[in-house]
Amino acid sequence: MSGIFIAIEGLDGSGGTTQSKLLRQWMEDQGRWTSVHRTWEPSGGPIGKFIRENLKLENAEALGDNVFPYLFAADRQHHLDREILPVVAQGGAVITDRYYHSSLAYQSLTVGFDTVAQLNAGFRAPDLTVFLELPAEACLERILARGGALERFEVIDRLRAIEAAYETVLSYCAARDEAVVRLDASGSVQDIHARVISAVTAAAAT
Ligand SMILES: Nc1ncnc2c1ncn2[C@@H]1O[C@H](COP(=O)(O)OP(=O)(O)O)[C@@H](O)[C@H]1O
Ligand SMILES: [Mg+2]
Repeated sequence: MSGIFIAIEGLDGSGGTTQSKLLRQWMEDQGRWTSVHRTWEPSGGPIGKFIRENLKLENAEALGDNVFPYLFAADRQHHLDREILPVVAQGGAVITDRYYHSSLAYQSLTVGFDTVAQLNAGFRAPDLTVFLELPAEACLERILARGGALERFEVIDRLRAIEAAYETVLSYCAARDEAVVRLDASGSVQDIHARVISAVTAAAAT
């Protein structure tokens, strides 16, 4: 039995966390993989925790934007080595809520695309990346409905800039022959879940 590595990507508010949880449950119910592991970036490891602390508004200035791409890349290496690749090697499924595509989109705005692309070029590509496509305005609606403190990423101008940056990322991935599926992320949670399942079913069949 072969493992599978899936990344869920999209703007904040596009539904990535919601969909990755539903997908984990669905994949578990399939009984097809030795294990199904849901994870996220920044990871739960030591570098990921450090990143989360420093992404909080009150700490935002401590490191400076230029440092984050390196931290995210270091976290990603650790995440792959300790959490993702061992599961996939055993025939398990890993679903990560964000991966290097998020770095390429978000951090290209501060340090430029090429710098981030270079830092991430060596990391294993997912067997499937699901890009949840939803306009920035609709993402903001969902973020506002969710309430709570906004992270500094979660502002409309930024969402629009990231939306544009993701287009560059998707072109880059296409040029690298990565398996990326763009899914319409409008509609109900269950509608989108059904689209995600179709994409995963197709990818798992190859
Ligand atoms: N299809 C949907 N329709 C309406 N609201 C949604 C939908 N999917 C998720 N949400 C809500 O939108 C907010 C953002 O969803 P979330 O899964 O956290 O997105 P992300 O992880 O991409 O930021 C949450 O409050 C979530 O409950
Ligand atoms: Mg999320």
